[in-house]
Amino acid sequence: MNWKVPLAEVQLGEEERQAVLSVMDSGWLTMGSRTEAFEQAFSQFLQIPYSFAVTNCTAALHLACLALNLRPGDEVILPSLTFVATANAVRYAGAVPVFADICGDDDLTLSPAEIERRITPRTRAILVMHYAGYPCDMEAIQQLAQRHRLAVIEDAAHAVGASLNDIPIGHWSDIACYSFFSNKNMTTGEGGMVVTRNPELAERIRLLRSHGMTTLTWDRHRGHAHTYDVVAVGYNYRIDEIRSAIGIEQLKKLPAWNLQRQTAVETYHAVCQEICPDLHLPFREFRGKSAYHVQPALLPPGVEKAEFFASMKAAGIQTSFHYPPIHQFSVYQDMAPPGGFDLPQTEHVAAREVTLPLYPAMTRDTIRYIAETIQEIIQSKR
Ligand SMILES: Cc1ncc(COP(=O)(O)O)c(C=O)c1O
Repeated sequence: MNWKVPLAEVQLGEEERQAVLSVMDSGWLTMGSRTEAFEQAFSQFLQIPYSFAVTNCTAALHLACLALNLRPGDEVILPSLTFVATANAVRYAGAVPVFADICGDDDLTLSPAEIERRITPRTRAILVMHYAGYPCDMEAIQQLAQRHRLAVIEDAAHAVGASLNDIPIGHWSDIACYSFFSNKNMTTGEGGMVVTRNPELAERIRLLRSHGMTTLTWDRHRGHAHTYDVVAVGYNYRIDEIRSAIGIEQLKKLPAWNLQRQTAVETYHAVCQEICPDLHLPFREFRGKSAYHVQPALLPPGVEKAEFFASMKAAGIQTSFHYPPIHQFSVYQDMAPPGGFDLPQTEHVAAREVTLPLYPAMTRDTIRYIAETIQEIIQSKR
């Protein structure tokens, strides 16, 4: 479909094209010097010592669970209002996802009080997700984690470039995971990054990313090693040079794009207040600095989602939904606690949430067109 206003826009320029061509000319496609350079640039960007580029954020989350030694029966507290990969990664490790509720209509991130309510003697970790790029209440969550001796993982798929108290997202946990899927703030097509400040966790991640082997093909190619041992049952979660080369260029452009996203979001708040005041935009106030990954909105009572999506589509505006809550998926039904899932805020928000277009180059006129279309839909219901 040819959208008048797409949901997101991939921005690839001459720099990315040249970077890809130079990898092809080099004759070395699998993980090597470009990946090292991408990891160094990412570490520099986050001011964090260890970054590992991987195939995608789902693999990053799996590695995080494995590096923290999560085992069958261990419980991990996490949101249901996230992409299914957040919880699936916990299950890959054999651990048990325990869903906690979000704060409410204005703050769609995990509620520290709701996390605390779910802590049991089997709880090993808290896995937060910085919804739409807005930082969770990491001060409260870190205090909880310290008090109960729990590990913390950040699913920072939405939050590249976000920070809290001037400390980058990625530093507020034992391990943080990023996605470079094509709708993200920066992309490599498919791709991800795992970061940590902890040298022991870093070593586990390094091993598990590449079959548990003590040396890489790249080390052997450079003559740095001739053989290897395998010291863990690892995976092939390596990225490749083409994606890393694209990632290096995208990362350079990210800060400017995030600023443009911020302007677009501020425009949304002002324009919607004026044109469609019954549409609720969460995160009018929020802690820290957001990465402004997506623009969520909550429909007023009486406006059905299916009709909203159809009317927006008819106006050429692509919309989405973040997210169908994980606890409502068929494959998660048997994870319900006795008495059923107790996630009223998540269910209330998920029933009304729609996601509006957001990308760096959005203009005020485009946002006005979206708001006017939404107001027509709301008025047609009166
Ligand atoms: C919150 C969240 N977590 C995890 C993922 C998984 O990322 P990937 O597609 O890179 O595996 C996504 C991707 O959309 C996401 O939005």
